[in-house]
Amino acid sequence: MRPGWAAWAGGTAVGVAVVAGLLAGCGRQTSIVQADAARYPTAVHVYENGCITCHGDNLQGGIGPSLRHVGSQRSVAQMERLIDNGSGPMPAYRLPGDEILTAAQVQAVAEWLATKK
Ligand code: HEC
Repeated sequence: MRPGWAAWAGGTAVGVAVVAGLLAGCGRQTSIVQADAARYPTAVHVYENGCITCHGDNLQGGIGPSLRHVGSQRSVAQMERLIDNGSGPMPAYRLPGDEILTAAQVQAVAEWLATKK
């Protein structure tokens, strides 16, 4: 192998990685959920850990229904009750003796979803 080949190859690999990273960065859009992370940190944290798998990274739904406009259909109190107790395939998060979330976390996520009119 010529001297310098390894350095050249290494440099090229770094260059390709940088370009690929830039392209990936350009194509990525902030999700509806991520866009609220600064204003509703607790709610977004809870949602990303417990809800996103069924309701989607853009609230679009999947296993569960879309939550994009849930705030125009349900009150904060109704959503708190649903999250506490579950409904059908939707898990319960605050069964007595099996509290997955605190009352404050449920309230935060319900108040955030209520803004989705
Ligand atoms: C295993 C999947 C699953 C997970 C995880 C899940 N949900 Fe659900 N969710 C559902 C399903 C299914 C329904 C519909 C329940 C029904 O119709 O009885 C639902 C319904 C809802 C509704 C009412 C929607 C409407 O239009 O009436 C809200 C609000 C909601 N979920 C919020 C959450 C939140 C907040 C979390 C996380 C703390 C969460 N869900 C986690 C499956 C899930």
